[in-house]
Order: sequence, then structure tokens, then C-alpha cells
Amino acid sequence: MYVRMDQLSLVISRALDIIEKEKFGASKNHSMRVAVLCAAIGRRVGFNDDCLSALTTCALFHDNALTEYMLSEREGNLQALNLRLHCEYGQRNVEWLPFKKDVSGFVLYHHEHKDGSGPFGKKEGEYPFEAAIIAAADLADVRNHLQRIPAESLPELRRAIREQFGADASSKAAGALLEVLDAHMLESLRDEALQATVEKAIPLWTADIRDPSIIRIAGMVAHVIDYKSVFTTKHTIQIANKSWILANHYGYDQTQKAQLYLAAALHDIGKIATPLEILEKPGALSAEEFAVIKEHVRHTYDWLRGIEGLEDICRWASNHHEKLTGTGYPFGKKAEELDFNSRLLACVDIYQAVCEERPYHPARDHADTMAILYETAKKGEIDASIVKDLDTVLAEYSLRDVPPPRILAAHTNPAILNLK
Ligand SMILES: [Fe+2]
Ligand SMILES: [Fe+2]
Ligand SMILES: [Fe+2]
Ligand SMILES: [Fe+2]
Repeated sequence: MYVRMDQLSLVISRALDIIEKEKFGASKNHSMRVAVLCAAIGRRVGFNDDCLSALTTCALFHDNALTEYMLSEREGNLQALNLRLHCEYGQRNVEWLPFKKDVSGFVLYHHEHKDGSGPFGKKEGEYPFEAAIIAAADLADVRNHLQRIPAESLPELRRAIREQFGADASSKAAGALLEVLDAHMLESLRDEALQATVEKAIPLWTADIRDPSIIRIAGMVAHVIDYKSVFTTKHTIQIANKSWILANHYGYDQTQKAQLYLAAALHDIGKIATPLEILEKPGALSAEEFAVIKEHVRHTYDWLRGIEGLEDICRWASNHHEKLTGTGYPFGKKAEELDFNSRLLACVDIYQAVCEERPYHPARDHADTMAILYETAKKGEIDASIVKDLDTVLAEYSLRDVPPPRILAAHTNPAILNLK
């Protein structure tokens, strides 16, 4: 079973962009513009599709680790962003992706300067050309806000970029960037045009869902989602891990396990579009605010539904707040429309929300959590037989986190795992 990695990468990068904008004031869609510029440069210098996939995806994810870096440095001073560390985490994360080409150094060296004054002190030629391309595109966009430049200002823009690049950007990458930066390119980088531009720019790329890298990237996505709110730093990742051991309990094969894990990791991805002030509001929510919160599932559905190979995953993920009684949201589906994995995720989501510490309730042990689940099952809202299975499988993890699948454990940053 195949997944369109190019489409999935775009959705993940969209989520990352929203967080970077919220937390760092980065401009909207920055990563997408960097990816489009990199794709044009790659094509100009004759890269084949595998090389283009690797380059553009690393461009989309060039700052993927900013949130993870901040999680482990939450107490630290954001101004003193440790460039090396976010490059190192970012490189490790992209290496989990099922590329058909080696991407060593692509993200690691995206802040190097040609004169060796970057965070790793590498001079031009000592780091991969792909890293130099990403660095040039990044710099051009960060300094000039390319989405806002009118076509008639192109000559000044080119002059400004030449000056800004100075001793920083690799000469070869800078030259290639200036070659592709024409009026048409500026037009296609505008917010209204960008989605279509980026879909065309990135080559088709598929991976087998059983590829271990899918599980790893699911773990990365889960961390990104959990980063959004300080109140739920492990909600998603725990639902994914709990789903994994339940999948083992049910004897799922590799494909089924990977699908369920990915659905669990993505179930709340739409929460990234929920405003933080509502997500973290102390006290009761108004009816309007609750309606905004509920919208997160519709976002999950909208973001995932176009991805080829993720049809089942999209359905399970976006059914997690549906009830067998037809009183759930966003679709108000009835019991007969809710298949086993949809029911399973709904149960695990409630279990996790009930057992984890929240501003309005302390952490609960397994017995207390199960009492609430049995009560909900009695009302006919969730599947009673799945609730019983949760009781059997999760009892040994009372007040303890379920560890990640072994495949992830070896690669997960211990600083993240130790977070409360
Ligand atoms: Fe960066
Ligand atoms: Fe950037
Ligand atoms: Fe949710
Ligand atoms: Fe959730």
C-alpha cells in the first residue's frame, strides 16, 4: 500500500508554518516559498526527480525542528536560538523520510556561510550544494518577504539580494537563484497562487506505508502537534503509542499497524489551526469558542482528504469525536457509519484526555479513567467491547506513559520523552 509522500509532506509543512508564524513571527508560507525556489533552482541545474524530491522536501522541512528544539529548551531564552542544535535535530528528522537519495547535510548546513562564519564553520564546497541552495532561498525570502514584492520592483529586488548574499551565500547557489527569480516566479510565490505553485513544483513521490520511516515521521508530526499547547505536550504521541499496543493486541499486520499509528498521529493535526487563546483559555468556553474548538476535526479532514493512500487514515482520524449515538461531531455519523478503527481512536482519545493532567483536572490512574469510559459506553456513545479491551491492555500503564514503538525509541530525542 502506497502513500503520496509529496502530498503528506506538504500538509505537514503547512502545519509547521502555522506554528512558526505563531511562535516565531515567521511570515506565512515561508517554507513553501523556499521549496518552490529550490525546485526551480534544482530544475535549472539539471536535477532528476529523485534529487528534486529530496531537495524540495528538505526545503519544506528546513526548520522542522524549531518546535522540538524549543520543547527541550522551554526554559531557555528564545533570542539565543542555538542554530547548531535546530540544524542537528532538523537533519535527524528529515533522515527518517523514505528518500530515494542520500540527504546528508542538506538541513544540517542550511545556515552555513561561504566564508566559514556559519554555525559549523564550513566553507563553500565543504557542505552539499543542496544545503547551499536551501540557504540561499531561505535568506532571499526571510530578508525580502518575496510574497509581497510587485513585479516592477524586480530590478531593485535583484540588486538587494546580490548585496545581502555578499559573503554569506554560496556563489553558485546565489547565481542560480538570481537566474530563476523572474516576474513569473514572483507572481507564483504570492499567497493566493502558492498552493498550486508548490503542488506543481514538487515531483510525485510515493512510499510503502510499511516503510519504518512512516512510523518515524508520524512520531515527528505528533510532537509538532503536541508542541502547540503547553497543556497537551504528550496527548497525540500517547494516543499513537497506545494505539500501537492495541494494534498488537488485535494481531494487526504491519500495514494495518502503520495505518493506525499514522491516523492516531494525525488525528488532531487540525488543532494547529485553532487559535492558541482559545485552546489555552483558562475557565469555561463560550458556545462560540467551543464551536471553534470543534472545527479542528473538520480541518483534520480537509487537510488529509486529498492525500492518495491516506483515505482510510483520513476517515479514522476525522471520526475521532463521532459518537455511536449520532451525537458526535463534526459529521454526526451513526454507529453503522463508524468502522472499527474509527471507534478505537474515539475510545483511545477519550482515555488519553481523561488520564492526562489538564488545567481543569489532575492526572487520573487507570481505574478512575476506566470508570469514566465504562460510563460513556453505558450511554451507548462508544464501543463497549473496545472499552473492555482498553481495560485489559492499558492496565499495566496506569499513571505511566506507553513507550513508543521500538522502531521510534532508538531515534527519539530523550529530552522530549522526559517531558512531563
Ligand atoms: Fe533555520
Ligand atoms: Fe527559514
Ligand atoms: Fe480532537
Ligand atoms: Fe485528541
